[in-house]
Amino acid sequence: MENGLTYLAGFNNEFATEAVAGALPVGQNSPQKPAFGLYAEQISGTAFTVPRHQSKRVWLYRLRPSAVHGPYRRIDNGRLGGPLAEPSPNRLRWDPLPFPERPTDFIAGLTTMLIGVGAAADNGIAVHIYAANESMRRVFWNADAEMLLVPQQGRLHIDTELGQLSVAPNEIAVIPRGIRFRVALPDGTARGYVCENHGAVLRLPDLGPIGANGLANPRDFLSPTAWFEERDEPTEIVQKFMGGLWSTTLDHSPLDVVAWHGNLTPYKYDLSRFMTINTVSFDHPDPSIFTVLTSPSETAGVANLDFVIFPPRWMVAEHTFRPPWFHRNVMNECMGLVHGAYDAKVGGFMPGGLSLHGMHSAHGPDAVSTERAMSTDLAPHKIDNTLAFMFETRHLLSPTRHATTIPQLQPGYDAVWNGLRKTYTGANA
Ligand SMILES: [Fe+2]
Repeated sequence: MENGLTYLAGFNNEFATEAVAGALPVGQNSPQKPAFGLYAEQISGTAFTVPRHQSKRVWLYRLRPSAVHGPYRRIDNGRLGGPLAEPSPNRLRWDPLPFPERPTDFIAGLTTMLIGVGAAADNGIAVHIYAANESMRRVFWNADAEMLLVPQQGRLHIDTELGQLSVAPNEIAVIPRGIRFRVALPDGTARGYVCENHGAVLRLPDLGPIGANGLANPRDFLSPTAWFEERDEPTEIVQKFMGGLWSTTLDHSPLDVVAWHGNLTPYKYDLSRFMTINTVSFDHPDPSIFTVLTSPSETAGVANLDFVIFPPRWMVAEHTFRPPWFHRNVMNECMGLVHGAYDAKVGGFMPGGLSLHGMHSAHGPDAVSTERAMSTDLAPHKIDNTLAFMFETRHLLSPTRHATTIPQLQPGYDAVWNGLRKTYTGANA
């Protein structure tokens, strides 16, 4: 129980839950007549014939089957989607996007910043920022992608087909592809990040030599319990399909699932539960050690998406340059900041901001952070009151044309490295 909501604990578990006792059939999925006049419906998150350990699906017992709807009509996308700007080798950074002035719900408040491959190819990711000031009255679902929500400011109360989630900054939520949901804003406004994952469903990374425990532990992922509303009134339902928004109006709420069982569920996770592993001797490990969730690609170890966090942690490395080293990476890195300051940048990278260090762009700590890290006394020290994160992907991320023309795009980001002058003396000092 948390915020008055009851959750089911565990990652990818086979859950079974009913809001009305006796609504779940016993021993079968599709009875001739389900209890209480409900309809049975399956939603698959993976193809029927994938290996059993990858299979994701959920059986729903609902007031009306989802098939009861009229035609969807195309509606305006707002700031969602392209067109894309030309892919740029430049390092890019944005200030936080402002809150809207007019009433704007979670869906209307989405601004697409970066796209790698995308919906048409059913692969890659897209990075959006939401800024909203009105609770949704309509219901949304995404046929294109699983959605990873990273709130930065303001809580989200999310009513889904499978139940209710309350998600605050420092937590994440994942909504599977195809699951309907509605976002309310208990704090009046909310801003944060959304990563659309068009690739393989997010899973926990393998732990290798780390062993059976550590990083994000399965028991800390929380799925909702069955909840439904019996609301027979016109309800707009919007779906995202191949990048476009489509709308139709039902004569009832689609959040009418009385019971369900399966492992295709929305879930949330408190990032403060992440058991961070780092060096206790010397040298900074590769940042993959901070991976919370991963969407693998067809190539082993080369992710469609890694969700990586930089949480509070002790720095104890000896004779080590403690910030992330300078690097050029075959992968593409998009970073955000939930709160606090990121240890490799002094100013400029603000909570709610965004940066892109694309494939093989050279980057690392800025000049001020570098100078500080090279001259500081290496006593144990805690990086605290901060949460940065990264969406890392094998796919080249192109900014949208909109993202390259807004005033939040910082001019002269390159200058943060300008102070790194030659200090070579020809002999070890
Ligand atoms: Fe990097």
